[in-house]
Amino acid sequence: MSKICVIGTGYVGLVTGACFADLGNSVTCLDVDENRINKLKAGIMPIYEPGLEQLVEQNVHAGRLTFTTSYSEALKDAEFAFIAVGTPSGVDGEADLQYVRQAAESIADLVEWPIIVVNKSTVPVGTGDWVADVITRRRNGRPLEFSVVSNPEFLREGSAINDFMYPDRVVLGSMHAEAAEKVARLYLSLRCPIMITDLRTAEMIKYASNAFLATRISFINEIATICEELGADVREVARGMGLDKRIGPSFLDAGLGWGGSCFPKDVKALAHMAVLHGSHPQLLQAVMDINRNQRRRVVVKLRRALGTLDQKVIGVLGLSFKPNTDDIREAPALEVIHLLENEGATVRAYDPQAMPNAAAVLPRLQLCQTPYEVAEGADALVLATEWNEFKQLDFERIYRVMRTPVIMDARNLWEPDQMRRIGFTYFAIGRGNQTGGR
Ligand code: UDX
Repeated sequence: MSKICVIGTGYVGLVTGACFADLGNSVTCLDVDENRINKLKAGIMPIYEPGLEQLVEQNVHAGRLTFTTSYSEALKDAEFAFIAVGTPSGVDGEADLQYVRQAAESIADLVEWPIIVVNKSTVPVGTGDWVADVITRRRNGRPLEFSVVSNPEFLREGSAINDFMYPDRVVLGSMHAEAAEKVARLYLSLRCPIMITDLRTAEMIKYASNAFLATRISFINEIATICEELGADVREVARGMGLDKRIGPSFLDAGLGWGGSCFPKDVKALAHMAVLHGSHPQLLQAVMDINRNQRRRVVVKLRRALGTLDQKVIGVLGLSFKPNTDDIREAPALEVIHLLENEGATVRAYDPQAMPNAAAVLPRLQLCQTPYEVAEGADALVLATEWNEFKQLDFERIYRVMRTPVIMDARNLWEPDQMRRIGFTYFAIGRGNQTGGR
């Protein structure tokens, strides 16, 4: 079993560390945020991820997983140093690499034995080579036997542990085949296809995969807009398309569009790289434009339905960028709320997990304890995130307590016929242009 250091305890680092420990390795997770590490030592997770708390607890208990803020403690005797730090968007959409640099420099300063540096953070194509340069320059002539391997992550929030343990594939890129093979051995027990390529190709696979998935979603959202004009139902259209094996059914749910920590940042960064190198990433620009417009269209529909948004009370169900996470980064719900508030509406909301995070960035937002409290006296109700608990609500009760029974189902979660039978003026995304109501 191997000795692994994981630098960064965000979604990727923490899940990677806990899962490698669970596979029997000895893992030390490092973060420079002392508060975060203290909480982890006390068994408190900094993020909501199903199954993570238990996995961490089991492996800490078994002595395979430890947490520290000390680089020297974390790197001690490590054969592998996984870099899983944040790469936020810079001003122009480029990825900000300051945390990756810090990690690389710390490795250069503290390691005196052969080590494989594995990059899991999503970084611009070419960063693997740059990390190797940073380390070599920092060593300033002092020899160090090291290789850099790019190992992009494909973990979805909310199912990250499952995605780690049952991956569709593991991608490893390196200029040193032997180093890539050593990293491959860490994944052997997962029995999945392992693809070994050069560094830049591995880095590109990550961007291209996320951009493609975002493109599928923007594509179906554009189709949804056309469906609304032509009176077709995008859900059935997507089902009919998805049955074609060449197309497949996933990532064809029309709705409020994509958010989260990856898609927005990665599509922007890929477009930025393309422009820097003289290309015109027209498709990527359109993919981003469509995504932005999905949010605005919801506000336009509500304004039209209510005449004005000024002084209206709008209830929002769901704040996280998707269900089963408390993550609100680039959450479509937040932008919708912001736009509604700008037009003079009072917004109140409920989310099963994301309310503390939302309260920190939306000071005017009124938080409620139940969906029914959100609906009480509201002029419209917006479904922004399709949490399971919103599937089967008591809609008769919601109809009774709302001031005007307008529903904007921005994730196509509910049945139009049922909603209209109850009496709601019901809008969805791409499901014909009928609104109903009694
Ligand atoms: C994504 C990638 O899936 C993962 O491989 C990568 O490594 C990290 O980024 P994640 O951000 O957790 O994972 O979310 P994902 O489940 O992919 O959804 C992204 C966004 O797209 C969400 O806002 C979701 O609501 C939206 N989405 C997804 C749709 O609007 N329609 C769909 O059909 C699917």
